[in-house]
Amino acid sequence: MLNQRATDAGFDRKEAPIVQAKTLPPSGARPIMSSSAAVMNNARTDAPVMDGMIGQSHAMREVYRLTRQVAASSATVLLLGETGTGKELIARALHELSLRASGPFIRVNCGALSESLLESELFGHVKGAFTNAYENRTGRFEAAHGGTIFLDEINSMSFTLQVKLLRVLQEQEFERVGDSKTIRVDCRIIAATNRDLTDEIDAGKFREDLYYRLNVVPVYLPPLRERTDDIPALVHHFVKRYAAVNNRPVPRVTDELLNYLKNYAWPGNVRELQNNIERAIVLCQDEELTIDLFPPHVRGLAPIRLGRAKGGTLETMCRELVTLGITEAGEDSNSVHERVVSLVEREVILQVLRGCQGVQTKAATRLGINRNTLHKKIEDYHLESEAR
Ligand SMILES: Nc1ncnc2c1ncn2[C@@H]1O[C@H](COP(=O)(O)OP(=O)(O)OP(=O)(O)O)[C@@H](O)[C@H]1O
Ligand SMILES: [Mg+2]
Repeated sequence: MLNQRATDAGFDRKEAPIVQAKTLPPSGARPIMSSSAAVMNNARTDAPVMDGMIGQSHAMREVYRLTRQVAASSATVLLLGETGTGKELIARALHELSLRASGPFIRVNCGALSESLLESELFGHVKGAFTNAYENRTGRFEAAHGGTIFLDEINSMSFTLQVKLLRVLQEQEFERVGDSKTIRVDCRIIAATNRDLTDEIDAGKFREDLYYRLNVVPVYLPPLRERTDDIPALVHHFVKRYAAVNNRPVPRVTDELLNYLKNYAWPGNVRELQNNIERAIVLCQDEELTIDLFPPHVRGLAPIRLGRAKGGTLETMCRELVTLGITEAGEDSNSVHERVVSLVEREVILQVLRGCQGVQTKAATRLGINRNTLHKKIEDYHLESEAR
């Protein structure tokens, strides 16, 4: 369970004494860990890092191992991964497993506030700094002194604020908005993004120097579709949880249902799975959880967003393509295999032919198929004119 202080809800927004360097305890001066963190820390190095964290796939075991390894250091950690993959859970675990566990854990969602509000939220302000600044206010960096600050959705931070953050990372110092007095803090920085920051750098939206400062230890949370082995355990976990929450007996989960859930691409990852299970439990009136309690796209009956496959592996893109092919063919189709396979076959022949400037002998060798077979397929798919 989480340490009571590991929350951002209880942060006192009113004036607090400014923390100056000379009053700081030496960094890492809190050797006492919260009991739950200690328990999880004594576990196998690749066991889940926190109560309620589910998943024993190879990819997740690597995440747990890395989390344990870096937790004890004060290195900046950059959590990368699509929405709903568990970045916030890992951020909290990093704090709980660190020597700062008895200090505060402060989360700031950089995507939720405008530039000026975020600046004052992070660094605080002095009375009169701007209209409505009626009193002095401490910022989140000061509140995180001796603990951890978790900067969520860091990709949303404006260029101007990125400069100020870079200074905190390099010098551990900053000024409140409207003040000239320099404040020093000792806090560990964890940042998270569900966008590829190198793309943001290319687009001129993210500073490269800040990226390198943040990316000291990157921890990548893999999407659920790349660790489908974890789906059954997650389903059972959420079924139990929501049955208890709704005061219902725990329904049976069939292999058929698990197969459906393993075959869906889960663009919203664990969060989407969790929400769908909650909904199914609320709707369930039987002793068994059935697939009709899930929305049509999860059942493969409505198109899913292929756009998500961008940057995915060949396997995951293929899975999504096939799902879409099956969906589009409709439930009454009796030629699903032919339809999907010929679509892919036509495309691969077309692209290789083009790459070989339409020379069939070359293309047949590249494809690894017989020349006559290729000739016949070019005719069948009417590729003669397109391939040149
Ligand atoms: N491995 C897991 N085991 C159990 N629950 C999980 C796991 N991963 C994520 N969750 C749950 O899924 C939800 C989303 O997780 P979390 O908020 O950590 O995702 P995120 O990566 O921060 O997403 P976003 O980028 O949208 O902020 C939470 O309710 C969390 O408890
Ligand atoms: Mg998050």
